[in-house]
Amino acid sequence: MRRKLVAGNWKMNMSFTEADDLISGILEDIDSNGIPENVEAVVCPPALYLELATDMASGKELFVGAQNVSEYENGAYTGEISAAMLESVEVDYCIIGHSERRQYFDESDEALAGKVNMLLKHNIKPIFCCGELLDDREDDMHMDVVSTQLEDGLFHLTEEEMSKVVIAYEPVWAIGTGKTATPEQAQEMHAFIRALVAKKYSQASADACMILYGGSCKPDNAAELFSQPDVDGGLIGGASLKATDFISIIRSA
Ligand code: PGA
Repeated sequence: MRRKLVAGNWKMNMSFTEADDLISGILEDIDSNGIPENVEAVVCPPALYLELATDMASGKELFVGAQNVSEYENGAYTGEISAAMLESVEVDYCIIGHSERRQYFDESDEALAGKVNMLLKHNIKPIFCCGELLDDREDDMHMDVVSTQLEDGLFHLTEEEMSKVVIAYEPVWAIGTGKTATPEQAQEMHAFIRALVAKKYSQASADACMILYGGSCKPDNAAELFSQPDVDGGLIGGASLKATDFISIIRSA
């Protein structure tokens, strides 16, 4: 049986004290009540708080992810953070190719492929985001868009490398809008993505691949989305900023 994963993408939110409070709140609940077997919980705070997060989560049932990484190994890249740096503070996961980075920071599929390579080299599991714009869906191009993103950003990997990657399907029109994909829309795309992985690699790889849904996933819709056969958890934005909401979503997986 595939594991499930729920990751909180904090984006550019929270002060140091608020970050400390939020992680403490999540850990308090996990310490007292545990989390469902077969579910992995991940927090992805801003880079500045990663070391705090990995210290606090050490030895607990909580993993830590970054939100971005440089495609370069090291050197004169002012303001960038390398995969080696993330590895040195024991980060487990890193979100790659979030639509906000693709849209506002012009991240190309080629750059994303380089970032994925860097992470794998440094033993960090990529959470690779894909998803279409509203126009793409209205033009019935959503499958083509997602398939190109996976082909160009991810499918250069070997099967062994691919086994370390988590895919997150996030329709851009559903992110932060309160407009969630219906469970049927999510299932249709997730099944399509799994079929692409099967075609490129093998059925065994596809069966093992975790595919998360993201986009206005909340405590009141998570259980229905996660009950779809090909939805293996979620990448949660807004609702991951409140410990009780995030915990409730983890418990829906
Ligand atoms: P949202 O964001 O849950 O606030 O829609 C999801 C994401 O961007 O990962």
